[in-house]
Amino acid sequence: MTCHLLIPAAGSGKRMGAACNKLLLPLLGEPILQWTLKAAIASDAIAWIGVMAQPHDYPDFQKIFNSLITDKPIRLIQGGATRQISVFNGLNALPTDSDRVLIHDGARCLVTPDLFDRCDRALQKMQGFIAAVPVKDTIKVVNGDMVTDTLNRDQLWAAQTPQGFQVDILKNAHQTAVEQGWEVTDDAALLENVGLAVQIVMGEETNIKVTTPQDLAIAEFILQQRK
Ligand code: C5P
Repeated sequence: MTCHLLIPAAGSGKRMGAACNKLLLPLLGEPILQWTLKAAIASDAIAWIGVMAQPHDYPDFQKIFNSLITDKPIRLIQGGATRQISVFNGLNALPTDSDRVLIHDGARCLVTPDLFDRCDRALQKMQGFIAAVPVKDTIKVVNGDMVTDTLNRDQLWAAQTPQGFQVDILKNAHQTAVEQGWEVTDDAALLENVGLAVQIVMGEETNIKVTTPQDLAIAEFILQQRK
């Protein structure tokens, strides 16, 4: 086990309409973040977990960590104003022996241990990958209220996390982003920007990002089905 996992968890509850970090909201009686952590703990591939958080959430997050039974180290790392900065902080806090890192959003709490394991196996042969699923909808490009293009669905995939990278490669890409002022919404985009290959690992349809109250209801339904 040499794979390290970083969990960006330093967001807010804005789109959820929540007064607190949405990752603290209960899902079948347990905080959203706890579900994500339980899947990571159950994955054979992951040796170490870093969670990027805002300092005001440290006490609640620490309570969650304390409730979990595991030998794996789980560390709090200070998050930033954007997800990108949170990940950058996480990379700089990795143990010195890290060679492979998975990044997985705390908000994708339905991830399975099997997906983590498959991602780590894939990363042993890749410099960077994203978990992703083929899109089911037809995707339009729109300007104002006018459709300007219809994209070829055969080439479209919806990006998820985990995303995984050789640590040195992702660190260099993040450093270049700081120097160039690039702002991106996922880590793979940084590799793409510096011209490095990013591959696909088949994700899971149920690996949704809990963003709105509707997503919370869907997540509850999926978890109940798994029981
Ligand atoms: O807001 P959204 O759900 O798209 O954010 C994706 C993930 O990034 C979440 O798990 C959130 O907690 C995290 N995040 C972060 N630092 C920020 C903003 C978001 O770690 N400043």
